[in-house]
Amino acid sequence: MTWKKVAEKDAIAPGKGKEFTVDGKKIAIFNQNGFHALDSICVHQDGSLAPGKLDGDVVECPLHFWHYNIKTGELLDYIKGVKLETYKVEVKKDGIYLDI
Ligand code: FES
Repeated sequence: MTWKKVAEKDAIAPGKGKEFTVDGKKIAIFNQNGFHALDSICVHQDGSLAPGKLDGDVVECPLHFWHYNIKTGELLDYIKGVKLETYKVEVKKDGIYLDI
């Protein structure tokens, strides 16, 4: 794993998420009680989770409203045992870094 800078410190507003492409992967980073990163593509029909509505640790896919835990990547509806990959995030002096 390698730390990579993905954004400036203020790139993601509190309570919001943003999608980044890092090493060809689409990753959503949420600024919700700290920063949390996970694969951004919903397993249902490939919706992007980044613009999804947040409620605590849960993001709702904007397309058909499936829910994921943004800390664990776990899908909370319909199919048991599905987990999106999660990544460590660190905010350094010069920006937001992802361990990928
Ligand atoms: S694409 Fe996410 S719920 Fe359908």
